[in-house]
Amino acid sequence: MRTTISDLAARKRRGQKWAMLTAYDSMVASILDEADIPVLLVGDSAGNNFLGEENTIPVTVGELVALSRAVVRGSSKALVVADFPFGSYESGVDAALATGIRFFKEAKVQAVKLEGGTKVVPQIQALIAAGIPVMGHLGLTPQSVHALGGFKVQGRGDDGERIKSDARALAAAGVFAIVLELVPEELASEIAAELSIPIIGIGAGKGVDAQVLVWTDLMGLTIGAPKFARAYLDGRALMVDAAKRWSADVTSGDFPGPEETFH
Ligand code: KIV
Repeated sequence: MRTTISDLAARKRRGQKWAMLTAYDSMVASILDEADIPVLLVGDSAGNNFLGEENTIPVTVGELVALSRAVVRGSSKALVVADFPFGSYESGVDAALATGIRFFKEAKVQAVKLEGGTKVVPQIQALIAAGIPVMGHLGLTPQSVHALGGFKVQGRGDDGERIKSDARALAAAGVFAIVLELVPEELASEIAAELSIPIIGIGAGKGVDAQVLVWTDLMGLTIGAPKFARAYLDGRALMVDAAKRWSADVTSGDFPGPEETFH
């Protein structure tokens, strides 16, 4: 039985914090599912962390549908949320519905996420009316990195009121949760205290209901991971070492050994 959006609402009522991680393939999804991570996000951060792009902007719906399908197949307990890529919902309700329907029918995810505040409320309402649960995303919204002038903290000073009113608008539109990225802790805490839906922080401090990280940052695979991430494993060094040791064994003739050989 997968985690549901009602389970997440109940956790908020109980004051129980939870974790969300990105996943882009079935193997990693199965590992994170085994670790009881309740929500897996097929983020468009697949652009820079999986597809070798500079940022999230070039990611296509087709790419994320394929990755989302793999994450759904690799997991059985987590709620799987697919990110709407740049260009797949901004033009209006019809585009957003077409994208949501593809993710639901072809990838079988249980929810979707899209970036933006008041201006995407019509899209959010149409998706929810069609039976597609929506997660919002405010603060540093990476698809707008050029408009925002780079990856920098959002919502300092008066700008905090804009993010608050966007959060209220998304909650009123019916989103089941909101990601707040790279905002001051005080602002994130105030929004989490005011709204009854879960607020998921990334670079938003402790006072929120849940935390999200990119899985390659958590496992120490990313070169130049952001300051707000914490690595729990030196995964890159471990993998480089394993590949080097195997390559050396091949070179020396030590691999394959008798137990890896058939007669
Ligand atoms: O694409 C992504 O991974 C995200 C998270 C960082 C929230 O949007």
